[in-house]
Amino acid sequence: MNKKVVVLYYTQSGQLKQAVDATLAPLMQRSSIQVEYLKLQPTHPFPFPWGYMEFFGAFADTVQGRACKLEPVDTTCLSDADLVILAYQPWFLTISQPMHSFLQSAVGQQALKDKNVLTIIACRNMWINAQEKIKALLSRMNASLVGQIVYTDPSPNLISLVTVVAYVMGGIRGRFLGFFPRYGISSAELNARASVFGDQIAESVVHDQWDDLEDQLLLHGAVEVKSSLMVMEGRGKILFPIYARFLTKNGTATAGQRRVRVAIFGVALPLMILILSPILTLVAWIMPLLSPRKMKQEVDYYRHTAFRGDTP
Ligand SMILES: Cc1cc2nc3c(=O)[nH]c(=O)nc-3n(C[C@H](O)[C@H](O)[C@H](O)COP(=O)(O)O)c2cc1C
Repeated sequence: MNKKVVVLYYTQSGQLKQAVDATLAPLMQRSSIQVEYLKLQPTHPFPFPWGYMEFFGAFADTVQGRACKLEPVDTTCLSDADLVILAYQPWFLTISQPMHSFLQSAVGQQALKDKNVLTIIACRNMWINAQEKIKALLSRMNASLVGQIVYTDPSPNLISLVTVVAYVMGGIRGRFLGFFPRYGISSAELNARASVFGDQIAESVVHDQWDDLEDQLLLHGAVEVKSSLMVMEGRGKILFPIYARFLTKNGTATAGQRRVRVAIFGVALPLMILILSPILTLVAWIMPLLSPRKMKQEVDYYRHTAFRGDTP
């Protein structure tokens, strides 16, 4: 019997689509599997590369989970899908606005109800909080998260912080200033790993066997959680909603006031990150020494699809 996989995705530069295509190549080669792509399109497209005010101006709405308007999506092809792949990227430690908007919409929630879902993330290196939100949304739709694959930039945190900004705000993906490494997932990594994941997914789809997909993917390195980044992201998760409230003046800011706050924030945020990163890195090194069991438990939890239900 023929099987159907539907990919719901949003990408600005195409990086995420490249990762999805590489992962799903083995499925494309199977005549018994039909793969369909549905691209989410914001009615007012986000710019790429982003301008300064646009980038920092999107912070509050993204962090506060305010939906953007999307072009209508025909979700009828999802009704008989054996597997739905949600391919998304985090923005400001949460789900990017287009994907979040779709998942919050009645159409999205109806389309994913009771479905088997696999997520593919392609990002810099901080995705844990976004994925927790995905887990929460899917559990409310009674959908099953059967696996997760995360592709990240291999550079050290502060280096990729510079290169991601050069990429998304300057459109420069190559060697920024001549010596920074290229931003993003390397083609070599994709070539080496993606089709292995695709083979596992294809087996599960063909045999309608989902129980061990997550373990198979993990066995092949589909998700890596670095404790230092996990600790840093945990701090950001607490601080970002506070910054978002500052930007919107708790929802009372006029457009003019918000612009001034965004302009200040755009300078303050990178400065704060640069100052706090070495301190947080130190904390992140010390914490596993103080409570190794707790850290191991946390790392293990985020490597898995299980949802413990503590994220709003
Ligand atoms: C507004 C914005 C915020 C971002 N925030 C994060 C983030 O919190 N964590 C992360 O790992 N990457 C972050 N990124 C990088 C993206 O996840 C992604 O790598 C990049 O935007 C390219 O994705 P694309 O496939 O949409 O072109 C951010 C990018 C943008 C544009």
